[in-house]
Amino acid sequence: NDNQTALIMIFGATGDLAKRKLFPSLYKLFEKDKLSKNFAVIGVARRPLTNDEFQQSIKESVKTAIEKEDRIDEFASHFYYHSHDVTDSASYAALKNMASDLDNHYQLNGNRIFYLAMAPEFFGSIALHLKSDGLTDVRGFKRLVIEKPFGHDLESAKELNDQIRTAFSEDEIYRIDHYLGKEMVQNIEVIRFANAIFEPLWNSRFISNIQVTSSEILGVEERGRYYENSGALRDMVQNHLLQMVALLAMEPPIRLNTEEIRSEKVKVLRALRPIEGEEVNKYFVRGQYDEGTINGKTVPSYRQEPMVAENSNTETFVAGKLLIDNFRWAGVPFYIRTGKRMAAKSTKIVIQFKDVPMNLYYQTEQPLNPNLLVIHIQPEEGVTIHLNAKKAGTGMEATPIKLNYANKGIDGINTPEAYEKLLYDCMRGDATNFTHWDEVALSWSFTDKISDVWENHVDESFPNYKSGTMGPKCSDELLEKDGYFWWPVT
Ligand code: BG6
Repeated sequence: NDNQTALIMIFGATGDLAKRKLFPSLYKLFEKDKLSKNFAVIGVARRPLTNDEFQQSIKESVKTAIEKEDRIDEFASHFYYHSHDVTDSASYAALKNMASDLDNHYQLNGNRIFYLAMAPEFFGSIALHLKSDGLTDVRGFKRLVIEKPFGHDLESAKELNDQIRTAFSEDEIYRIDHYLGKEMVQNIEVIRFANAIFEPLWNSRFISNIQVTSSEILGVEERGRYYENSGALRDMVQNHLLQMVALLAMEPPIRLNTEEIRSEKVKVLRALRPIEGEEVNKYFVRGQYDEGTINGKTVPSYRQEPMVAENSNTETFVAGKLLIDNFRWAGVPFYIRTGKRMAAKSTKIVIQFKDVPMNLYYQTEQPLNPNLLVIHIQPEEGVTIHLNAKKAGTGMEATPIKLNYANKGIDGINTPEAYEKLLYDCMRGDATNFTHWDEVALSWSFTDKISDVWENHVDESFPNYKSGTMGPKCSDELLEKDGYFWWPVT
């Protein structure tokens, strides 16, 4: 297949993402013969490195990530390095020459992928240079892969988008949201649309609420500088959480193609009730981690982390109640929460169904458990259905049971990492699991209204949750007000 032939230029090739995710994922594709022999990679970054040194670093990064790397030498031989100054046209000219040489040498048909895996402040100017210095004049396809953050708010996202649109058309732009590459996030659609039993129930008549949790154990680590200006709302809600909500709430697309799926997701985001002004603190709560104990170790508070202000007002936890004002979802709360330094690394979706009209099984004085459909995104991958069944024995009592499906256990395969799938999609030209500009813009316009309020009001309660817990008390209260509680995700 011709499409897997391409020159891939990775800007930020000495960075963390390239080392931890991109090189190992490319190796996996290579090993599975999903990358044709005709490919080459130019690593682009500021520091001076020889090709040999760069290839050495490729081998190290692959070896760190993967146990079996038999073809590593052959793989690494396709890698080249260009020491780059992002603001200097002469540097782009040199890069262009290198690219044409490799294009000839490997017969790449003029196909080019530009992968921006570096500090976002340079995204716009790189895109402009790629065009003005001729790197995007190619015979084959040209595609831009761009990492998050895609802007800081709607306005800056628009500006960035305008810049990249001068060099690439919308369908040449692949905006990464790595959650869309996760196996079980991709499975949401299949579970919904390939099963007759869910679709009739998938609406406000039968679902009482939906809970989406993405919790982390890690703190802000070395990213204080970025995170201080971001916070959990921008870092996780604007992209990953809203994307999961869109997949859960969208109408069945008329066809499984990029355009149709995106258009259904966009409609969900358009139906999202804007939360602004005084409403913000009714529908959303924020938190910031304090010291605490995780796995027997004491960890510092957010304010003690490197590059973080000692009176920081940045949230490391967000919980919110979303309402989707359309026929299907009117009145059904979608609760979302995400945070750092929580009790578990866990991404899960719980769909809680409404109760049966009357409980015939009151002998035990126990209310019946509601039916739940739980989609386990990570670290386990699978699906659980919570039902009630007869308690074995002489009586007629009901007891909760679970039907469990574990993705990994059954097929015996490790599902590929998100980046492996996304890179492959990009090479094949499938943008379904990337975010369209309309989705980005609608998501920012939703979260901007919340940031506006939070940035102008210092939260005096910060730090308000201990590291190693499931967040601040106000997060539980958010659901209690509605008569619900967070289903445990650990
Ligand atoms: C990134 C955020 O987008 O997602 C990080 O910038 C966060 O702060 C990460 O840690 C979580 O991703 P995952 O795949 O580990 O859930």
